[in-house]
Amino acid sequence: MTAQTTSSNDRVIIFDTTLRDGEQCPGATMTFEEKMEVANLLDTMGVDVIEAGFPIASDGDFEAVYEIAKRTKNAVVCGLSRAGAKDIDRCAEAIKPAKQGRIHTFLSTSPLHMKYKLQMEAAQVYELVISSVTRARNHTDNVEWSSEDGTRTEFDFLCKCVEAAIKAGATTINIPDTVGYAVPEEYYNLIKSVRERVPNSDKAVFSVHCHNDLGLAVANSLAGINAGARQIECTINGIGERAGNAALEEVVMAINVRNDKLKYFTQIDTTMLTRASKVISAATSFPVQYNKAIVGRNAFAHESGIHQDGMLKNAQTYEIMRPETVGVKQTSLVMGKHSGRHAFIHKLEELGYKLAQNQLEDAFVRFKALADRKKDIYDEDIEALVDQEIAQSHD
Ligand code: KIV
Ligand code: ZN
Repeated sequence: MTAQTTSSNDRVIIFDTTLRDGEQCPGATMTFEEKMEVANLLDTMGVDVIEAGFPIASDGDFEAVYEIAKRTKNAVVCGLSRAGAKDIDRCAEAIKPAKQGRIHTFLSTSPLHMKYKLQMEAAQVYELVISSVTRARNHTDNVEWSSEDGTRTEFDFLCKCVEAAIKAGATTINIPDTVGYAVPEEYYNLIKSVRERVPNSDKAVFSVHCHNDLGLAVANSLAGINAGARQIECTINGIGERAGNAALEEVVMAINVRNDKLKYFTQIDTTMLTRASKVISAATSFPVQYNKAIVGRNAFAHESGIHQDGMLKNAQTYEIMRPETVGVKQTSLVMGKHSGRHAFIHKLEELGYKLAQNQLEDAFVRFKALADRKKDIYDEDIEALVDQEIAQSHD
């Protein structure tokens, strides 16, 4: 399922922004120690770029980025900065101790943002793209430039800014879907057309950064990769502004499981995904929805009798990936009113019971009656019920 027969041109860079875009959303603030733990985990699991924070935002953010830059062993450590000189210089200072550091500078390019947010003319924005990237390049040769609200930017102007950013030395060009407005085909066409139109576009890695306002962040990210982008910006559990960002575990597993269609690969150790999800959930106190893809508690759980029966015959009947590949010990067959005889017998075997046929039939009837009354059936409930059955059949 996970065979990788791809060339290095098919390697997708995973840029994690849990500590920046993720932490930026209401209620997700993490302590310094929690940030250190998260950064260490991201580095260990093979994330390529850790966006560690927004150094100008506060002294706390600066300290965290600085410390992560100092401690990180493998990943590039990136700080975010607006286009102003003070922002860029502060960011450069924060990433200074990194083995590999990156300045990520951004500027809005859509008519709406330029008029109302920046209150600037397009010509001024264009000049600022050049001066900001040039300033960042004077600090480091690893500079990412983002056109904020890129998907609502007028196409010719977007291309003009991207061209200028590359000329000024940006090595990564990010076209964010800042408000989660794009649909996959449209985003595919945008990334493809910008890459085709801009001279020297091959001098930079194109990046996708998709928000989830319409629930399309992962689909859009994958469409962007199909169009030639090679970096995905994402967060653990998909946390981030408003409805969040593309979920790291989802993009990574989509690439991993559907390697037949998505002929790319990442260097993420997928067996760490569940742990990462738990760590982020604990640090932010954001619960993970039960049916969340990959890391939700029901992602590898089955209750219906038909599905449990299928799973006991061959796991591929109802699972497209093995739970161990994402760090879950095993599939769980949850006992409930939808469970069938086959799963019940399997559970008894697991619990070490061997019943005579008549005992088994009686125990199954009791189990169904209990499951109708009780929502959650635990192993102890089944043990009690079977022990009772055994005791009665000896009377
Ligand atoms: O959503 C966005 O546009 C951003 C940028 C700062 C990259 O987070
Ligand atoms: Zn964002």
